[in-house]
Amino acid sequence: MPRPIRKILEVLDGKTVSPPPIWLMRQAGRYLPEYRKVRAEAGGFLDLCYNPDFAVEVTLQPIRRYGFDAAILFSDILVIPDALKRNVRFVQGEGPQMDPIDPEGIDNLQVEGALDHIAPVIETVRRLRAELPQETTLLGFCGAPWTVATYMIAGHGTTDQAPARLFAYRYPEAFQKMLGVLTEMSAEYLIRQIDAGADAVQIFDSWAGVLGEDEFDAYAAKPVARMIEIIRSQRPQARIIAFAKGAGLNLKTYRQKTKADAIGLDWSVPLSVAADLQKEGPVQGNLDPMRVVAGGKSLDDGIDAILDKLGHGPLIFNLGHGITPEADPEHVTQLVARVRGDGR
Ligand code: CP3
Repeated sequence: MPRPIRKILEVLDGKTVSPPPIWLMRQAGRYLPEYRKVRAEAGGFLDLCYNPDFAVEVTLQPIRRYGFDAAILFSDILVIPDALKRNVRFVQGEGPQMDPIDPEGIDNLQVEGALDHIAPVIETVRRLRAELPQETTLLGFCGAPWTVATYMIAGHGTTDQAPARLFAYRYPEAFQKMLGVLTEMSAEYLIRQIDAGADAVQIFDSWAGVLGEDEFDAYAAKPVARMIEIIRSQRPQARIIAFAKGAGLNLKTYRQKTKADAIGLDWSVPLSVAADLQKEGPVQGNLDPMRVVAGGKSLDDGIDAILDKLGHGPLIFNLGHGITPEADPEHVTQLVARVRGDGR
């Protein structure tokens, strides 16, 4: 049987695919009524993540509805602190919470065997690869060490990650130790996802944008580079997308430093800069999720601008960050049709 063509893997290998393949960050989520139904049935959010029946179902929902070129494993970046017993909980309307960690807590982290706690997520990956259409790429993912550390330190989400930045200056040794633990554990977690059938993986550094130059290098670029080095030393064929949201001018060297196959771009990256970055390799992005909420001409204009500037090189069409719960599912239909050239 000939190998099925998975367009996103072609792009990750540096090819230009026209029209570009598309998936959306957070494509399984609250904007979909079918997601909200399963979510209510599952009870808690982590119960949804750790139940392969439910997790497979919600991963497949956006594939059935829109035929995206990739399915992304349904889970969360915070299963890593959960596996480290940080008492992670998702409070309705308040976002994620956990026990804030201190230097002593870092010394006491139980890493040995911790990943076994996430075995149901790996089972979800295995089932997904068996159930997905052959041409659909299966993406695994995890959070980057810096972004996961910000939640572990503050104990909840913040708008500027001041607690984690302060912690890093005050307790440099403990902080480096924590990044080291998260780097090793996350690399091993992604290897398990790849072995279970993930075709490629994305590393989410959603809070890279709050870091100064030296800190970006030390906390964002270096740990992700090390993760990729560990993964490739054991799985040389691994394909990896690195998304450092808000990284701005730091993106100029991010690909060289991390050796990621593709870099994700948020919507604040000017398309002229994106086109320069694309000369060095594949890019993914970068439509403003608010255009999907707005719909209509603003959605069409945003799509056309990206296709005009980036559509002639290796591009994975995506949003610049996750789709939001307010997005109308019909607008996503409009988006997919336009990217695929049905509406132009
Ligand atoms: O993209 C997908 O469809 C796959 C699933 C996925 C989720 N979270 C499901 C989720 C992925 C890839 C993530 C990544 C994630 N989680 C990130 C990195 C990407 C980003 O958005 O910046 C971060 C920072 C988190 C942490 C997290 N999880 C937060 C801050 C929240 C609360 C905010 C919110 O949207 O509610 C979550 C919860 C979460 N993760 C939901 C989903 C669908 C909503 C929870 C619910 O259904 O009640």
